[in-house]
Amino acid sequence: MPEFDQDKIAKNYYTDVPVENHGFFLKGAHSLDWGMKNRLSRIFRPDTGKTVMFAIDHGYFQGPTTGLERVDLNIVPLMKYADAIMLTRGILRTTVPPSLTKAVVMRSSGGPSILKELSDEELAVDIEDAIRMNVACITLQVFIGGEYETRSIKNMTRLVDMGLKYGIPTMAVTAVGKNMVRDAKYFRLACRICAELGAQLVKTYYVPEDFDTVVASCPVPIVMAGGKKIPELDALTMSYNAIQEGAAGVDMGRNIFQSETPEAMMKTINKVVHENYKPEEAMEYLQSVKAEEVAG
Ligand code: R5P
Repeated sequence: MPEFDQDKIAKNYYTDVPVENHGFFLKGAHSLDWGMKNRLSRIFRPDTGKTVMFAIDHGYFQGPTTGLERVDLNIVPLMKYADAIMLTRGILRTTVPPSLTKAVVMRSSGGPSILKELSDEELAVDIEDAIRMNVACITLQVFIGGEYETRSIKNMTRLVDMGLKYGIPTMAVTAVGKNMVRDAKYFRLACRICAELGAQLVKTYYVPEDFDTVVASCPVPIVMAGGKKIPELDALTMSYNAIQEGAAGVDMGRNIFQSETPEAMMKTINKVVHENYKPEEAMEYLQSVKAEEVAG
């Protein structure tokens, strides 16, 4: 039993200071439960409101992608520079040390390989297993306009329902079919549908025209997808523009792990996302880090 507390003078209830009603730093997240907000705060840095997410889940449909042949050797050492890692449970369990404290964004859909119709996906991870792996987020592709559009939406709403049950946010990834037009009109449609149907965050591609309208019309945070490898300055410029136009971070894979200097690229992306480095400034920083790496 605790002792009876007789020291009335030491207590201070600050009766004249009202309790602050804390909002939450992320768009659209104020009504979520504590566990979900806590997980979102592991993905997005509360001090900047942004994330550098490292996408290495490509193997789930295209096998050993260039740069991902040996995740243990080339990828694990880079993880310390990311806020969150997007990957499959297979790679997590076989290759990632459990001492990693970064937010895990778990690829939870799968099915077809690159040899088949990619929109023909099913859910591929149970919520119990996501909990077992202590993930911060569950994620899947949504194929708006794709052959199996309705199924992918159904997959998403099921994942959202399971995630809500246990406080795990769902990130919807807007997957664009080969012959579809990648413009702001399409991404406004796709991102809004994902958010309306419950995704707590959306990963989508940058478009040079009117990306800010994609962000503005989506009531949850947008994370910019990287896409295929492009020259470093272009990747940094795209990231800079996306952040300045309202993205809450980037989720990049090939532009980091297919770079000649992935560690330097990772450090530089952090500067663009969290410190608003402009493209030229970021390039200078990249060159200096590269020089240090070569010298060291
Ligand atoms: C894309 O949505 C898939 O999940 C990819 O496997 C991956 O996340 C893409 O990353 P990046 O396009 O930056 O290489």
